[in-house]
Amino acid sequence: MHCNGWGEEHGGPDPEELRKLGISPAELLDFSVNSNPFGPAPGVRRAIQAVDPSLYPDWRSGRLREALAQANQAAPGQVLVGNGAAELIWLVAQARLGPGRQALVLGPAFGEYRRAAQAVGARVEEVRAGPPDFRPPLVQLAGEIARVRPELVFVCNPNNPTGVSLPDDALQDLAATCGSDTILVVDEAYRAFRDGQFFAPPLPPNCLVLRSMTKDFALAGLRLGYALGSPALIADLARFQPAWSVNALAQAAGLAALDELDYYRATLEQLARLKVDFFSGLTTAGFPPSPAEVHFGVISVGRPAREVRHRLFQRAIQVRDCTSFGLPDFIRLSTRREADNHKLLEALQAVV
Ligand SMILES: Cc1ncc(COP(=O)(O)O)c(C=O)c1O
Repeated sequence: MHCNGWGEEHGGPDPEELRKLGISPAELLDFSVNSNPFGPAPGVRRAIQAVDPSLYPDWRSGRLREALAQANQAAPGQVLVGNGAAELIWLVAQARLGPGRQALVLGPAFGEYRRAAQAVGARVEEVRAGPPDFRPPLVQLAGEIARVRPELVFVCNPNNPTGVSLPDDALQDLAATCGSDTILVVDEAYRAFRDGQFFAPPLPPNCLVLRSMTKDFALAGLRLGYALGSPALIADLARFQPAWSVNALAQAAGLAALDELDYYRATLEQLARLKVDFFSGLTTAGFPPSPAEVHFGVISVGRPAREVRHRLFQRAIQVRDCTSFGLPDFIRLSTRREADNHKLLEALQAVV
């Protein structure tokens, strides 16, 4: 749990907590992060090793930007590479929000939207999906967009933490509701986990699509993501980006990953098969997961999630306590390899 001076909680191990409990990072089974558990492709590892760390990175991420533009049928001016999708969330908040301005979030969702908006003094309102099916309340969201006229609307599709996707034509409808004064930020960090499609052309000009390359390409430690949008909006975000924000290793890894799509497709297909077994095991054990279209989702544990997380952690298993998502008796679980998934099921039955 990262409950810290930096703000929101996130998944992933907290080195301080591990040290305190005497658990080594290698022995921890981490179900709390949603990255590809099969790790980077061999070609990506080689590309990282070939980088000379004494040289400054290309501050434009030029080659990667061009390659991503081509993959997404866009122009290079429609792409901004970032230090993880997280940086791009902060850049759009800085570019569009400020004191007295308003952001609207389709919740429950990734905590950095709220954090980035509040850090620049904006107000944040949330329209929330609820258990058990966490279906996004789109009519209510459209009504709030029309009523509040926020500067930014954040939609996470597929959603973190629930894994639930929006219906096919919902984004076009929401973009139309937003009109020209509101930017619809569509966070597609988990797009490829749903359907194996890593890329897609930009949405209408009042939309900003965010993609993380740390999840599907397993590069969480390096940090890499990109935004796709109109050239004007992309230029607006770039004004706030610190120089050399995307390091040379991340750029090299990103370029190499684009040459290894077969590896990544195969791992995501395998993960999708493992998810079916894992989720049916959870259902049989009495913990039916949210109707996720990706490899992670939330389950109700019927008691404080903080406590369940703590008890599992003592067994060197980490899950994401969803209290910070406003779901204090839910945990989020991400599919891992088969043997690990069995261990989680056993431990969960023992502690709950
Ligand atoms: C929905 C969502 N968007 C963005 C991010 C951040 O991605 P990155 O690691 O590329 O900064 C995360 C990470 O957990 C996420 O869940």
